[in-house]
Parts: sequence; structure tokens; C-alpha cells
Amino acid sequence: MPDFSLTPEQESLRDLARKFARAEMAPQAAECDRIGRFPEEIYRKAYELGLMNLNVPTEYGGSGLGVVDQCLIVEELAHACGGMTTSVIANCLALEPILLGGTPAQKERILSPFCAKYQLASFCLTEPSGGSDAGGLKTRARKDGDQYVLDGEKCFITNAPHASLYTVFATVDPELRHKGITAFVVPRSAAGVTPGKDEEKMGHRASSTSTVRFEGVRVPATDRLGAEGEGFSLAMRTLDQTRTPIGALATGIAQAALDHAAAYALKRQTFGKPIAEHQAIQIKLANMAQAVHAARLLTWHAAWTIDHGAKGTLESSIAKCFASDAALEVADEAIQTFGGYGYMKAYPVEKLLRDAKLTQIYEGANEIQRTVIARELLQKYA
Ligand code: CAA
Repeated sequence: MPDFSLTPEQESLRDLARKFARAEMAPQAAECDRIGRFPEEIYRKAYELGLMNLNVPTEYGGSGLGVVDQCLIVEELAHACGGMTTSVIANCLALEPILLGGTPAQKERILSPFCAKYQLASFCLTEPSGGSDAGGLKTRARKDGDQYVLDGEKCFITNAPHASLYTVFATVDPELRHKGITAFVVPRSAAGVTPGKDEEKMGHRASSTSTVRFEGVRVPATDRLGAEGEGFSLAMRTLDQTRTPIGALATGIAQAALDHAAAYALKRQTFGKPIAEHQAIQIKLANMAQAVHAARLLTWHAAWTIDHGAKGTLESSIAKCFASDAALEVADEAIQTFGGYGYMKAYPVEKLLRDAKLTQIYEGANEIQRTVIARELLQKYA
């Protein structure tokens, strides 16, 4: 039975993240959103405070945190800015395949120098031909002696224009579908690697997203993660680990929306009293509070499950799917509580709706999460 009382260490991690989020991220969030600025100085500070390579063991220079601890941090950061949080935690996603599939020698050789200074890494799975069908990816990896030659294009890659390292999923034989997919670690400095221009996005505008082209990129076989054909399972096992923190990110956005709506409802007067005294608004706030609470508990439960050694495929999909749907609903209701002001960019809640939307799409669209949930569920009845 999970016990969600926090240890003193967890309380101080959460406080550290909260202070950083409020002092450094929140004051810049609206402006970065407005002009689409990637605030690298904030990401550098997050690294210096140990808030970036959260999942990497301390022996390789990371913070060595479990998934519950990661979720505590991520929710606090996302309360201040969902987009910045996406960029801060993108290293966790990109480095997880190395943690899961790398040999001890690869981890030491790749992770230790990477984590020794501020650097960004990107997880390169999605392709223009279709993100949900990861097994159908087309980027080719041709064996040539003791090297592979990579050719293809990835898209919607978080932090790609600023990253110095990419974990790349490519196929040694597209006929084999998922059984041909193989994972590689590719430095940005390798000849033939070209990140594209930063995309203009609806939300998460403090984060950077682009394509990455791989043209005749030579990768030593020593930078392959696991065996040929093990890449798909590596990608899925990675996402099992990282979808739960996306649940925490969505919960942080939802909590921010509730906080703004409740504070506004106490201040804003109509019909001679604060709107918080009208039942229509009270019911809204009560429903929002239930959604936030449920999202947080499902997220913590999934995180606890993984920290206790389970795969967490079902739990992480439930947490990510529920919390991201909740974030969108709660942000929508926050706008409704603000009325016309909520629709204005001068107020903070319309950004929350735009930021919440992405959490239903990235790290596996919620339609995919429901597919995963149904498959896991039906196995139990078969
Ligand atoms: N762990 C380990 N192995 C797994 C697994 C898991 N969670 N899920 C599936 N597998 C294995 C299966 O057991 C099977 O193995 P065998 O061949 O040995 O039987 C194999 O993988 C194929 O599985 P499926 O038949 O289930 O594969 P599928 O083609 O039907 O696809 C899917 C399954 C769940 C739809 C998968 O394609 C998927 O998750 N798609 C979404 C991809 C995604 O989340 N992309 C997000 C990109 S990252 C991003 O957005 C971040 C960013 O930069 C912001």
C-alpha cells in the first residue's frame, strides 16, 4: 500500500524546485511565451541546482532520483511554466535509453562527461511520416564494417537546436518493422547531423522544438545501445519511465490554473459579492480541485509503482492520460472563471490552456495511452 507522506529529503527537494520555479521561472514565463524565447540561462541554473539530469545515477554525475522524487520536482516547475519544464526534463527522456540499454562502459564513457557540465540531449524517435506508429519509423541504419551509417529525418524533437547529444532510433531493415529498430547515441558534432529551425508552437513556447536530419552520419558500433533490433523495446521501456513525470507536468499546470481561478474568484465581484460566493463558481472550483487531486494521486501512484520495481506500463499511461486530460479541462474552466479576461493574454490562464494541450499529445498521444491501457487491461481477462 503506497504511503505518500514525504520524507524530509523529499520535502527539501520540493522546496528547492518551488523556490527556483517561483524566483527564476515564473517571472520570465509570460515574456518567453510571448516572444518564443528559449531561456538558456534558466536551464543552466536548473542544471547547477541538480534539477536537470534527475534520473541519472550520481555515479555518472546526475541527481540519482526515483520517479516519485522526479514528479515532486516536475510539478513545482510546471506550476511556473510548462514549456520551460519540458526543456528542463528533456534530458531525462533522452538519457533514459542509455540508462536502460547501455553497458556500464558506455554509461561511464557517455554519461559522465555529458553530466559534468550543462548540456542538452534530445530523444529522436518521432518522424514526419507518423509519430504514433513508432514501429514504422523509416530512418535507416546501414552496417558498414564497425560503423553504422544513419540516414533519415526526425521531427518534433524537444531541445534539438540546442542539444549536443541525440539518442536516435533507426531501422536496420524496415521490412522487420519493430524488430529492426536499433538505438544509437549520436553527438551533434558528427558530420551529417543537421537540426532544423525552431518551430513556432501554440504553447510551450519557452521550449525549443525542431527536426533533425541525419545524412550519411557515421556512428561507431560502440555507440549502439543494446543489440540490433532491441531499439523498439528500449524506446517503449523509456516511455514507461518518462510518461509519469509528464503526468506531474500536467498536474502542475492544472494546479496553477486552479490557484489562479480561486484567487480571482475571491477578488472579482458580481451581483454585489465575490464570484466565489456564487454556487456556479464554487461547483467549478470543486470540480477543478477534484481533477487536480486525482491527477496528482494517479501520478504519484504510477511513480511509486515504478520505484518499487514494476514496469509501470499501465500505471504510467493512466497517469499521463488522466492528468493531461485533467489539465486541459481545469485550464478551460479557469478561463471560464475569469470570463472575458481569461481570454486575454494580459492574464495568465490562456497560456495554461495552450501549454496543457501539448501534454495530451507528446510522449504518446492520449489515443495511444488508451490503446496501451486497453491492451494491458484485456491481458488480465484473456
Ligand atoms: N516495454 C517493453 N516492450 C514493449 C512495450 C513496453 N512497454 N510495449 C511493447 N513492447 C514490445 C512488445 O512486447 C512487442 O514485442 P515482441 O515483438 O517481442 O512481441 C513489441 O514491443 C511490439 O509491440 P506492439 O505489437 O505493441 O507494437 P505496436 O506497433 O502495436 O505499437 C505502441 C505499440 C504502443 C502504439 C507504440 O508504437 C507507441 O507507444 N507509440 C507512441 C510513440 C510515442 O510515445 N512517441 C512519443 C515520442 S517522444 C516525445 O513526444 C517527446 C518529445 O520530444 C517531446
